[in-house]
Amino acid sequence: MSQATEETMSGKARAATAPIIQAINASREYHLAGEVVHAVRSVNLSVHPGQFITLVGRSGSGKTTLLNMLAGLDHPTSGQVLFEDMDMATFNEKQFIQLRRHRIGVVFQSFALLPLLSAYENVELPMRIAGLGASERSKRTHEVLEMVGLERRAKHRPYELSGGEQQRISIARAVAMRPSVILADEPTGELDSVNAAAIFGLFRQMVSNDGMSIVATTHDRTLLDLADLIYTVHNGEIDLSQVGAHVDTDAQFRRPDDTPGSGSDSDSGSGTELTGTAKT
Ligand SMILES: Nc1ncnc2c1ncn2[C@@H]1O[C@H](COP(=O)(O)OP(=O)(O)OP(=O)(O)O)[C@@H](O)[C@H]1O
Ligand SMILES: [Mg+2]
Repeated sequence: MSQATEETMSGKARAATAPIIQAINASREYHLAGEVVHAVRSVNLSVHPGQFITLVGRSGSGKTTLLNMLAGLDHPTSGQVLFEDMDMATFNEKQFIQLRRHRIGVVFQSFALLPLLSAYENVELPMRIAGLGASERSKRTHEVLEMVGLERRAKHRPYELSGGEQQRISIARAVAMRPSVILADEPTGELDSVNAAAIFGLFRQMVSNDGMSIVATTHDRTLLDLADLIYTVHNGEIDLSQVGAHVDTDAQFRRPDDTPGSGSDSDSGSGTELTGTAKT
C-alpha cells in the first residue's frame, strides 16, 4: 500500500484526482430473527483527496453502517468499497492494520475512549502503537488537545469529562494521527452550537490546508455550509443534495471554548493555525 503523499495541493486540485475511497453499488443487509434489514442500498460514493463530505439523515437511515463500510470496519453484503482502488474486503490483517494506523482515522459515535487512560494518554496511545517517537508524540498530543480546547483536561479520565469533552478527545485522537481520511460519525452530537461549529471549522481547515479528506455524519443542518458535498441518507440510499456550498475557507476559525469568559487557557484570541497536519 502506498503512503500518503507529502505534497501540498489545493483542495480543488485534489478533488480532480482519483478517489481515495470509493463505494460501488455497496449494500449492507442484516439478517435478524428471520427478517432482513436493508441498512444500505446500492450506494455509489467517491471520496476524493481534499474533500469534505457530510452525510445527513434521520436516525436509522444507514449513516453509521455506510461509514463503517467506508472505514473497512464492515464489508458490503454486495458491491465493493475500494481504498485507493483496492477492495477492502480483500485486505489481509497486516494491510488492514496499516490502513487504520496510518491512512484512515475514525471518530466513533460512541467515542470509544479507553476508560483507564487519561485524555492525554488516549490521544497519545495510537501514535505510540504506530511507532512515533516520544517527542513527536508529545508535541502532537499537546497541539491537538489545544486545538479542541482541552489542554486543561489532559489528566482527566473519560469519566471525569463531560460527554462533549469526551467527544472532542476522540476527535483529537483521530486528528493527531494525521491520517489521509477521517471518517467521523456524529462528531458534534454532544456539542453545543459554538463547539460544534468550531469542530466543523477545524475539519474545514484540515481539508483546505492539508488536503485531508473528511466524511462526517451529522444531524445538524447549520454545519453543512462548511462541507463540499452534502448527501442525504434516506432508507439506506444516498442523494447528493448540495455541492460546493462551503463558506469562505479564510473565515476566522475559533477554537472550541475560545469564547469570551469561557475560562479557556488559550493565549491567542482567534484563528488557530492547523499547521503541520499534513501527513509526514
Ligand atoms: N447489527 C445490526 N443488526 C441488525 N440491524 C442493524 C444492525 N445495525 C444496524 N441495524 C439497522 O440498520 C439500520 C441503519 O442503522 P444505522 O446505525 O446505520 O443508522 P444511523 O443512520 O447511523 O442512525 P443514527 O442516526 O441513529 O445513528 C437501522 O434500521 C438499524 O436498526
Ligand atoms: Mg449512527
